[in-house]
Amino acid sequence: MDWGKKNRLSRLIQKDGHCLFLPIDHGYFQGPTTKLEKPGETVKPLLPYCDAIFVTRGVLRSCIDPNNTTPIILRVSGGTSIIGEDLSNEDITTSIKEVIRLNVCAVGFSIYVGSKYEHQTLMSLARLVDKAEEYGIPVMAVTAVGKELEKRDARYLALACRIAAELGASIVKTYWCENFEKIVNGCPVPVVIAGGPKVDSELQLLEFVYDGIQKGAIGINLGRNIWQSEHPVAMIRTLRAIIHENATVKEANDLLEKLKKGEKK
Ligand code: 5RP
Repeated sequence: MDWGKKNRLSRLIQKDGHCLFLPIDHGYFQGPTTKLEKPGETVKPLLPYCDAIFVTRGVLRSCIDPNNTTPIILRVSGGTSIIGEDLSNEDITTSIKEVIRLNVCAVGFSIYVGSKYEHQTLMSLARLVDKAEEYGIPVMAVTAVGKELEKRDARYLALACRIAAELGASIVKTYWCENFEKIVNGCPVPVVIAGGPKVDSELQLLEFVYDGIQKGAIGINLGRNIWQSEHPVAMIRTLRAIIHENATVKEANDLLEKLKKGEKK
C-alpha cells in the first residue's frame, strides 16, 4: 500500500485496530438538524474524544478551526434534500483537488443499493475510488437507505457492504442489525457501525455498539446518539471505553452514570 494511504489510515484507525468517528455531516441533506445548528460549537467539546470527524467541505471550512488536529473524513456525496423527490439521487460533490487541498485522511460516499439510483451511486463510488487511490486517499463507503429504514437487515446490509468493498472502498460504514456477524464475515474490508436516529434508551445504544464490536466491527461512525444526547461528552467517553478499552455493557453503563454526574447538561 502507498505510504500516504497507509499514513492516512493509521491516523484514522488506532493502534488497537479500532476507531471512533463522529459524523456531523447531516446538514448536507437535512439542513440544520437538531443540536447541529452550529456544528462548530456542537463538536468542540467532543473533539478530544473522537478519532476523526465526518464532515462536508462547507462546514469544515466555515466551522472547524484549521489548527484542529483531529483527522477529517470528508463527505463528498450529496445533491439531494430531505424534501426532494428521492434521497438516493446522490453524486460526487467535491473534486479530488479540493480533497487534497483540505488535507483530509479519507473521503466518504453514500451508495444506495436497491434504489432507483443504485447504478449511478455505485458507478460514482467506483470513479471516486479510482481518483482517490491515485493520491493515496482511502474511501469510506456509506450503505445508505434514505427514508427506507426498514431495509436495515443482515441480508440487505451484507449485500450492500460487499458491493462497496468489491468496488474498492477501504472502509464500509453500515447500520448495526441482528446477526451483524453476517455482514462482517462477507465484507473483506473493515466495517464501522453507523448510528441512525436516536435510539429509545442509552442502554440499547451501549448494547448494540458492544454487540457490533464483538462481532467484528472495528468501530463506530455515530452522530445523533452522541450529540443529541443530554450528556454528549459522557456518552462519547463511554462509547470510547467500549471501543478502545474493551468495556462490557455493564462497565460502560456504570461509567456513563458516573460521568453524567460530573458533566453539565
Ligand atoms: C448522514 C450520515 C451520517 O454520517 C450517519 O448517518 C451517522 O450519523 P447518525 O449516527 O446520526 O445516523 O451518513 O447521512
